[in-house]
Amino acid sequence: MAQTRSILITGGAGFIGSHVVRRFVTKYPQYRIVNLDALTYAGNLENLRDIEASANYTFVKGDIRDVGLLGKLFTVHAIDGVIHLAAESHVDRSITDPMAFVSTNVIGTVTLLNAARDAWKGVSTGKRFYHVSTDEVYGSLQDDGFFTERTPYAPQSPYSASKAASDHFVRAYGNTYKLPFVLTNCSNNYGSHHFPEKLIPLMINNIRTNKPLPVYGKGENVRDWLWVEDHAAAIDTVFHNGVDGETYNIGGHNEWRNIDLVKLLCAIMDRKLDRPIGESAELITYVTDRAGHDLRYAIDAGKIERELGWRPSITFEEGLERTVDWYLANTAWLDHVTSGTYRHYYEEQYSKR
Ligand code: NAD
Ligand code: DAU
Repeated sequence: MAQTRSILITGGAGFIGSHVVRRFVTKYPQYRIVNLDALTYAGNLENLRDIEASANYTFVKGDIRDVGLLGKLFTVHAIDGVIHLAAESHVDRSITDPMAFVSTNVIGTVTLLNAARDAWKGVSTGKRFYHVSTDEVYGSLQDDGFFTERTPYAPQSPYSASKAASDHFVRAYGNTYKLPFVLTNCSNNYGSHHFPEKLIPLMINNIRTNKPLPVYGKGENVRDWLWVEDHAAAIDTVFHNGVDGETYNIGGHNEWRNIDLVKLLCAIMDRKLDRPIGESAELITYVTDRAGHDLRYAIDAGKIERELGWRPSITFEEGLERTVDWYLANTAWLDHVTSGTYRHYYEEQYSKR
């Protein structure tokens, strides 16, 4: 099939990235999809087993901070689009090791911006740099209000500060070098292939294995949850139909206090595991709060809905059922991830090639 586009997706072996890669590889056989991922602890090629043999897919193990590699990839594959997801993504890790976040999220993003700018040399027609960012750049809300695209940036954790810095660099490259970009800020994702250091998969795994369920503080913090495949659909929409230089907020209209969400998960798991009602909730354990814990995130997704026609496709109840079913059907994936075995998959797969 004749190739019409060549798209570099960074971080495609991670949670959201693997859903974006799968969507683009299967929906657009006319595109070449190059997945660049360093395979950190969060990158897992088992996430992409089902599509890894596709004719329009290439995996490259490498780092977004590798200037030489990026130059080569843009030239060899004639890259005309970038969807940039590679990042250090876990807030708790950013509290213990902020420099790793500066290095990948800030320096890595600027290195990638330089590569795109140099490869495209001011020719913007048909080119697009898509930066995937987070609602955390806006800081924390109290009980009322929503983040809009005009909310001033007020990041409060090393993670969100590094993402905010990367957003500023993307816009600065748009202004200074006329790099054609789009940027989205999304709320909390959930779904399959989510690394079990994050709230929902961690709780599912701990309920499954009868371990304590660590709720930070009083469990009163609020997050706005979006099914990851709906985020991938939004990325597809913005990549194809978003306006150059614009920002779009993406969210699920779906706010939950952590404690209520954990109790809901316990109830779902009791039913699925044939446990007496209330048994899993006995595992709930309140633990020391996260330092600087943002109280509430809530997205006003009106702009992407009005201007591009995107909206979430399923309810939270349906998404959570599907998510729990996926984890219960893929306990080997969970066991590999928690034991570190998944990291052998790359050696097994790629040492033969
Ligand atoms: P993740 O941690 O699951 O995956 C990150 C991926 O990036 C991994 O595959 C990792 O190997 C790769 N990576 C890390 N450093 C790299 C480097 N230096 N070079 C190349 N690859 C590298 O993250 P995620 O949750 O899928 O998030 C993806 C993006 O979406 C991030 O930019 C994050 O800030 C953003 N985001 C996440 C959420 C969420 O709820 N998870 C919400 C909004 C935005
Ligand atoms: O809002 C988007 C962001 O959502 C993304 O940019 C981040 O990459 C992503 O990790 C996520 O950040 P959060 O900090 O909101 O997600 P996390 O799953 O770590 O925590 C969700 C909430 O649950 C938060 O209030 C902290 C709390 N929590 C988390 C863990 C891991 C607990 O109470 N116990 C836990 O064990």
